Amino acid sequence: MGAQRRHLWWWWCCRWAPLLAALLCPPRCCSSAACPEQDLEKREEEARIVLTGTVEEILNIDPVHNTYSCKVRVWRYLKGKTVVNGDILLDGGNKVMIGGFGDPGICDNRVASGDTRIFFLNLAGELQWPAHKNELMLNSSLMRITLRNLEDVEHCVEGEPWWAG
Ligand SMILES: *[C@@H]1O[C@H](CO)[C@@H](O)[C@H](O)[C@H]1NC(C)=O
Repeated sequence: MGAQRRHLWWWWCCRWAPLLAALLCPPRCCSSAACPEQDLEKREEEARIVLTGTVEEILNIDPVHNTYSCKVRVWRYLKGKTVVNGDILLDGGNKVMIGGFGDPGICDNRVASGDTRIFFLNLAGELQWPAHKNELMLNSSLMRITLRNLEDVEHCVEGEPWWAG
């Protein structure tokens, strides 16, 4: 009797363990499967501008598309500093407006005021004017600032690999 019950218990466990694991697993650990992200190298190539900054203000919320822009205080340009000039620079030159938050084409596309991130950006194209004139547009997912992430991005920026030259 006891042995049989133990047997039943094991059977139950094996059968339902994967489901339990899936339920207990926080969504974040499964998100890479749900939202495939391009290689960092490719993301860096597509973005003319890569910078680190802190979100100071959330503006121009579009209630229909759930998109918004942010005024971001720039700490450091990892790429494309010379592209960012003229009317793009705000408040004496150390802030920029970034649009495209909430863009469903970008996996990790949301921030709150006070968040510091690595931003992969392009200049707003004429198609995005006038709403986004003089804004930089988010081009791929936001990245948390860690030493490892910074090193990885810098490594990509530092140059094309020799075999691509
Ligand atoms: C990112 O930039 C590339 C051009 O470098 C463009 O083809 C692509 O559509 C942009 N992605 C988004 C999500 O805007």
